[in-house]
Amino acid sequence: MTLSDRILQISESNTTRLMGIVNQLKAEGKQIVSFNAGEPDFDAPEPITAATIKALQEGKTKYGAVPGEPWLRAAIAEKVTKENGIPAKPENVLVANGSKQVLYNVFQALCNPGDEVIVFKPYWVTFPEGIRLAGGVPVFVDTVEHQPDINLIREAITPKTKAILVNSPNNPTGAVYSREALFEIGKLAVEKQIYVISDEAYEGLVYDGEKHISLASLDPSFEPWVLTTQTFSKSYCMTGFRVGYLIAPKDVFKSINNLHSHLTGNVCTFAQYGALAALEMDPAIMQSMQETFQRRLDLAYPLCAELFDTVKPKGAFYLFPNVEKYLGDQFKDDDALTEYLLQEAQVAVVSGSSFGAPGHLRISFSTGEEAIKEGFARIKAALQK
Ligand SMILES: Cc1ncc(COP(=O)(O)O)c(C=O)c1O
Repeated sequence: MTLSDRILQISESNTTRLMGIVNQLKAEGKQIVSFNAGEPDFDAPEPITAATIKALQEGKTKYGAVPGEPWLRAAIAEKVTKENGIPAKPENVLVANGSKQVLYNVFQALCNPGDEVIVFKPYWVTFPEGIRLAGGVPVFVDTVEHQPDINLIREAITPKTKAILVNSPNNPTGAVYSREALFEIGKLAVEKQIYVISDEAYEGLVYDGEKHISLASLDPSFEPWVLTTQTFSKSYCMTGFRVGYLIAPKDVFKSINNLHSHLTGNVCTFAQYGALAALEMDPAIMQSMQETFQRRLDLAYPLCAELFDTVKPKGAFYLFPNVEKYLGDQFKDDDALTEYLLQEAQVAVVSGSSFGAPGHLRISFSTGEEAIKEGFARIKAALQK
């Protein structure tokens, strides 16, 4: 049996694979410190679960409208207009099974075979695979100190470029892109008549007084060219609900909705009631989570910087240190170091190679303060052996 070339060219997500290994080791009784987590460690807040349970009890268990329930689309349009400055109407909002599916839909909608999508390095593992699945070609462009460089982006544009993919706050680096950099990217896209896909999955998690900026909000001329994706997963601790959304210009929206109608239809009906509750609940609930993450960053960053060369993140919940000084005879690369830390220190981190950045580790601080102290102490002891 031969499978399609399309499917054979992609590999399993390294982060979800590692999550399986870590869960297995924990089930065997190993005391693993999970610095690999890609999700908040909090449960979804009570108003969200209560609304979801109520919806289930009231029989909201049938198929629903393909692009999402009208009241949720209206509430999302209001949220992005008010909070993000993106002028959106309900007709611009498509609710999907997490922003992972939004991205899949977008790549399918934009790419003809051989079309290029510019992806900054380091990148989230799913970006290149999603582009390849759509027949597109990811074109990798380096960042400088984790920030995009407009000259490097301009140099990478060819007649085949279809879109520039921007992810701020960034996974895996935690970088938050500056207003100037985002504006330059938007201007370049308008000039070249190409799309910008703005992945804002971590918009609710920024630190040290930093502000998240939505590229689509920066100039009215960007509007036809920017596709914004956000999600309930990270900002509201709803990863398992699988509710994310796209804000797109009307013509693009229509084509993506056509695909959506065949691929999945509506997102889980009762999960959408939970999503509405998230938008309507007291914002103080999520502010307190953000404050907890700020404390964790304040704790984790100096511990990390003591061991490795580390750019301080401004968002998400990841540190992305350069570990090259530890590589050589004992550990040939970051994968070997990752494996050693898991076996020797029982600390799970993700290798930078998974994100197109060999010589780095991704360390998630989405875990309790005691675990952060314990994890770095174990890493330090293991490196001194
Ligand atoms: C950068 C980025 N975008 C999108 C997603 C997808 O999130 P979800 O599908 O849960 O909305 C993730 C999840 O880890 C992510 O890191």
